[in-house]
Amino acid sequence: MPLVRKARVADVPQIYLLLKDFAAKELLLPRSLSDLYDYVRDFYVLTPDDDPRKVVGACALHVCWSDLGEIRSLALASDSQGADLGRRLMEACLTEARDLGLERVFALTYIPKYFERFEFRLIEKNELPQKIWADCFKCVKFPECDEIALERKL
Ligand SMILES: CC(C)(COP(=O)(O)OP(=O)(O)OC[C@H]1O[C@@H](n2cnc3c(N)ncnc32)[C@H](O)[C@@H]1OP(=O)(O)O)[C@@H](O)C(=O)NCCC(=O)NCCS
Repeated sequence: MPLVRKARVADVPQIYLLLKDFAAKELLLPRSLSDLYDYVRDFYVLTPDDDPRKVVGACALHVCWSDLGEIRSLALASDSQGADLGRRLMEACLTEARDLGLERVFALTYIPKYFERFEFRLIEKNELPQKIWADCFKCVKFPECDEIALERKL
């Protein structure tokens, strides 16, 4: 049974490659190595139980404001998909969000139906605080954001 744990600095190159593959297919936004080192403490990773150094999945919770977090960069290696393991990563992030005292989390995604499985509901992007758009300046898609915004109350 694969394990979910907080990411370590040594995991960053594997997280980078995992996200890069899906970014190339335009399923996720790309993240630079530098950005991932900055935000490594946001990440949970999924590892096979016989090799805790191998990363086969990742998901991040980023604290944005007093009541608000963001779920980012959810991805499973292709050969680890199909067993609902994304749920394990999502639930780790949602549990941490609750433990931190956040009241809601949002996601910007191309697969809203997947997030609706976790009680996320569609929202307008302009319902999100302006502060979150600071990161968008770094995005390759800026200013033509085509992701869909969803929110989940905690
Ligand atoms: C999204 C992802 C993490 C889900 O992986 P997973 O946990 O292996 O999901 P599974 O294939 O086991 O599917 C679990 C359930 O989610 C549903 N699901 C999976 N991918 C979905 C998608 N893209 N859209 C809607 N529903 C989806 C499945 O139909 C299944 O539902 P069921 O239990 O009712 O049959 C994985 O497909 C992935 O890494 N995708 C590429 C990266 C990506 O798009 N990330 C999202 C970025 S916001």
